[in-house]
Amino acid sequence: MIPLLAAAVAALAAAPAAADVSVYPYPQPVPTGGPYEGWQAYDPTPLQDPPLPGADQPLNLNFQVTLDTSGQAQGAGIELEGSYMGISIEMSLAEAIIGPNATWLRPQFLNLMSMLKERGGPPVLRLGGNTQEKAELVDSLPGGASLGKLAIGPTGYTNTPTLMYTLDILKALRATSDLLGIRWFLGIPMNQTTPPRLEIVEQGESIMGEYLWGWQLGNEPDLYELHNYRTAGYSQQNYIDEFQSILDDLAAHPTIQTKNKIGGPGVCCLWKLDDILTNFNYLDRFSSQLSSMIIEHYPIDNCVKGQNDPQTMMNQYTMHSHPQKFANDYKNAVGLALAANKPVILLETNTASCNGFLGLSDAFAAALWIADLGLQLAATSFSHIMVHLGGQAAYYNPFVSPPHNATKPFMWTVGPPWYAILMVTEALGPSGHARVADLNANEGNTYTPGYVIYENNQPARVVLLNYMSDPTGAHDYTANIQTAASQVRVRYMLAPTVNAKIPNITWAGQSFGSYFESDGLPRGEHTTETVPCSGGVCAIKVPAPGAALVFLTDAAYQPDEDMKTFASSHTTRMHNTAAVELGALQTSNGLDAKVRAAMKKASTSSPQNVKKNDAASRSAGALAAAVCALAGALLLAA
Ligand SMILES: *[C@@H]1O[C@H](CO)[C@@H](O)[C@H](O)[C@H]1NC(C)=O
Ligand SMILES: *[C@@H]1O[C@H](CO)[C@@H](O)[C@H](O)[C@H]1NC(C)=O
Ligand SMILES: *[C@@H]1O[C@H](CO)[C@@H](O)[C@H](O)[C@H]1NC(C)=O
Ligand SMILES: *[C@@H]1O[C@H](CO)[C@@H](O)[C@H](O)[C@H]1NC(C)=O
Repeated sequence: MIPLLAAAVAALAAAPAAADVSVYPYPQPVPTGGPYEGWQAYDPTPLQDPPLPGADQPLNLNFQVTLDTSGQAQGAGIELEGSYMGISIEMSLAEAIIGPNATWLRPQFLNLMSMLKERGGPPVLRLGGNTQEKAELVDSLPGGASLGKLAIGPTGYTNTPTLMYTLDILKALRATSDLLGIRWFLGIPMNQTTPPRLEIVEQGESIMGEYLWGWQLGNEPDLYELHNYRTAGYSQQNYIDEFQSILDDLAAHPTIQTKNKIGGPGVCCLWKLDDILTNFNYLDRFSSQLSSMIIEHYPIDNCVKGQNDPQTMMNQYTMHSHPQKFANDYKNAVGLALAANKPVILLETNTASCNGFLGLSDAFAAALWIADLGLQLAATSFSHIMVHLGGQAAYYNPFVSPPHNATKPFMWTVGPPWYAILMVTEALGPSGHARVADLNANEGNTYTPGYVIYENNQPARVVLLNYMSDPTGAHDYTANIQTAASQVRVRYMLAPTVNAKIPNITWAGQSFGSYFESDGLPRGEHTTETVPCSGGVCAIKVPAPGAALVFLTDAAYQPDEDMKTFASSHTTRMHNTAAVELGALQTSNGLDAKVRAAMKKASTSSPQNVKKNDAASRSAGALAAAVCALAGALLLAA
């Protein structure tokens, strides 16, 4: 299989890639100081593990967890959909991640989204970011492309290119909605007010239909001055006046039908959200047109390189106090928004701005932190949070398609944040009634946080995290959950150490492999452990490091062999990336279930899985056939 696959890959690589379609002048790979030189997204250089708690810090590794069965769901946030955690896709990456048009969608993206849908219902995603502000909707682009980048004009602090795109991008989004019910947040540029640039609403409204979840009017206005989008002295009052003026134009617009799906203010960094809300009576003033309050925030500004030492950050991020501070900073604003009946959307976040930290954002530390942050903000009554996907130059991608010159163009890279998103999505489930509360577990010990997820105000699931890194097992802990259940089921998010990178991270025994190894489907045997309980107590072991999702009832997500999956039957030479034709999708279900089952069982990365499961060793041959069939399909089309 390997030689065959290699031959297929070589043949693909030999096909001339027409680099004249999309120009990628930014960003460039930067030397990391280590032996690695190349795109940040694939840098294997690790940090050190964070230190274990010192002898002066009391540490109980065997503690009780008491759950509230009174029906009050003490301390829980609002009811949440399973689509709570989504992905924020930088607009300039629309074509690379989603696909160039409605008939050519990336099967890897569809597979990943299909997994989310299976666990939590149709995903809610965002397309936007810095690149949305100057994005220009054009009738066509040279060579039939649907997206183009120009490095002209103020490109901003993050080296953001200026974008041109065609309606094909919106049609591609709509096609993903038709397939998987995906709902989208999109951005309206606010780089000028006279005239306002409402083309995306004028044309997008009918294309997106009911799948348009909300419009973000303006992205991070507190950075407009810094990004040279406004002249010096641009004030909060200026911003509010401009926001008002565009909303007035929208209200008076003759063809735009829906005037009240606007989200804002989307401030991130320099302005205090509380100031905008209180000094300008924001929520009340714009109430008739606002459908949500949008926040954008990364806990650390990493745009000035060298300002923050990644190792120091690693040591700070691997504590529960870190996500708690994030949530606390927004408690007041969330309270105001909920009182005004506006759901709170964290439209863009990740470990750190400007692409994250090498060794932290791309390590198991980030998976633990993002799971903790997601659940903490759920307990704080955020309605959706979107983990940002920044592309080749980012360390923090939940997943990313390969660069255009990749030798394995159909193989994507799935990063640590994705494992956290899967776990949290399963923890919430598809009912739409999940409520999350911080358990203040282990007397609030910062290394051993825990959450309870209520369904109909009764405990249904528990998530337990262990931030400590100790492969000897001496810092594993046992949480004794008090429950009437006779047995519970447990799934683990695991890695050997906190600083570990892919492929050594697994969720429920499965992995997406290493750099350039994923077709968007999990590999390895899906494992759920059954833990017997006695005397009203279930003892749950949580390895250091690791996270456990405990299902207190049997109503847990069961892997479904019929999950909709998407196989590639084409490559486009031009884009050098696998894509899939919509017509074929409507009549097929991707790989057939037998092949898929075989692929899932054959682990790409973790030999112990193969040993653990006879079935896996038996099906290794079937995997070879499946991968070669896939490669064959690619070859035929090339
Ligand atoms: C792809 O391009 C990057 C950036 O220029 C470079 O570092 C890398 O070596 C290239 N890879 C191949 C296979 O040409
Ligand atoms: C969609 O994009 C592919 C790849 O660029 C192209 O071959 C195809 O013609 C496009 N389809 C339409 C309908 O534009
Ligand atoms: C806003 O962006 C559009 C599209 O890139 C551009 O044509 C226009 O000049 C920009 N307006 C200002 C005031 O910079
Ligand atoms: C991590 O994964 C790699 C590749 O599968 C493997 O060689 C290595 O032994 C793993 N490391 C640990 C600590 O499990």
